[in-house]
Amino acid sequence: MAEQYEIRRFQPAAKDDPAYPESVAWMRAVAFGFHDARRSDERVDKGIEMQRTDGRVMTGVYQTGPVADHALGPDVPVATFGTMTKTLNIGFGRLLDTRLVTAVTVRTSHRRRGLLRRMMAEELGLAQREGLAMAALTASEASIYGRFGYGVATSEQSIKLDTGARFVLNHTPAGSVEVADPKVLLELAPVIFDRLHRLTPGSIDRHEFYRQFASGTISRDDGEDPKVKVALHYGPDGEVDGYVSYKFGGWASTPYTMEVVDLVAATRHAYLELWQYLGAIDLVERVTWDEAPVDDPLPWALADPRCVDASEARDMLWLRILDVPQALAARHYPADGKLLLKVADPLGLTGGTFALDVNEGAAVVTEADGAGVDLELDVAALSSIYLGGVHPVTLAASGRIREQTPGAAFLAARMFAVERPPHCLTHF
Ligand SMILES: CC(C)(COP(=O)(O)OP(=O)(O)OC[C@H]1O[C@@H](n2cnc3c(N)ncnc32)[C@H](O)[C@@H]1OP(=O)(O)O)[C@@H](O)C(=O)NCCC(=O)NCCS
Repeated sequence: MAEQYEIRRFQPAAKDDPAYPESVAWMRAVAFGFHDARRSDERVDKGIEMQRTDGRVMTGVYQTGPVADHALGPDVPVATFGTMTKTLNIGFGRLLDTRLVTAVTVRTSHRRRGLLRRMMAEELGLAQREGLAMAALTASEASIYGRFGYGVATSEQSIKLDTGARFVLNHTPAGSVEVADPKVLLELAPVIFDRLHRLTPGSIDRHEFYRQFASGTISRDDGEDPKVKVALHYGPDGEVDGYVSYKFGGWASTPYTMEVVDLVAATRHAYLELWQYLGAIDLVERVTWDEAPVDDPLPWALADPRCVDASEARDMLWLRILDVPQALAARHYPADGKLLLKVADPLGLTGGTFALDVNEGAAVVTEADGAGVDLELDVAALSSIYLGGVHPVTLAASGRIREQTPGAAFLAARMFAVERPPHCLTHF
């Protein structure tokens, strides 16, 4: 296998760079892997420009041996892997640099030969050597990434909100909502998102795509999306502290539906008042949102919580601790305590036994010998409980955590808790 392929890692090139076609071929291979329609040259250019803004690195696997006649040439990667580094909110306002993994594809005719395993092992090792304590991804299938030490840390769900006669939201507005030209989000979206990001455990800082997408400047596969509309929320001080970007589902299907494209609210008032706005839009009877938190204030604020029809609760953010002592020491803990954790790592990056000793919220983490272990778990389970969004007692009940000291899982739940339910609004 090693003789047939080589892995090349490069930054997306500028359009006038002779290496530009390599970036184009990589982008087209990713789109192929996700079954996307062939994009226009302009949309690919735009995609590469955004990748450059994000500081992404493109990794491709290339055939080195003979390539079949008439098949795609050796310049087109048979496997792709993209990375960038952004911050993750790990609770209590702390932001941790995290290696984001994205654009993972392996061409069908080259799958199950270990290419994903090879790229993943190399890239995670590289991130660890660069000093990063955490990696993250969002997964197309939930069965792929556990074996590499990733664990689910946040979830999301789809909601359908009935905005007919029974829609009453119990909240006295503190601010106001106004409709705006969608393009204002090119400037405002990153500023508002930054406020939400600093307040929300589990949040990943956003890449360039989002402001372009929320403002209708691009769509997923193409250029401008003329359907996108935008409303802004103004706080009592007149500052914009929230926005919703949305579009109409069309007159062909009933109930007439407004689809939320992106909803970012930096205050609790902004969140509820943007929903009041959405609920008040005439001629539609339903609003849908596919990125709603599982632990959502919205139904609690409604006179009839059953106006919200929630479905498809699913894994969203997967975390992978790359350095246990560094990751544990980075967190603030709302409860003091001591835990001896025996952590297994399938890739051999950061396994071992670690003493977590928290005093007044600050952790001291030391490597220990194996005696007196409280919790035995693999790095995926530790990554799952790290953000406080997955309950250690549940993982113990499932067998993912072995509780050697009675009560240790509940102690871990108290120590790893965060100030509000984690939620990640950034897909990558
Ligand atoms: C998922 C994908 C990247 C796997 O690539 P691959 O090169 O065939 O994977 P490997 O040969 O390195 O396999 C690595 C391991 O993962 C397992 N695996 C790979 N894909 C899997 C899947 N879809 N479901 C379950 N297990 C999977 C393999 O069985 C293997 O297990 P083992 O090493 O424990 O024996 C590839 O099938 C693909 O491109 N799929 C479409 C795009 C996609 O889903 N990308 C993921 C985006 S998040």
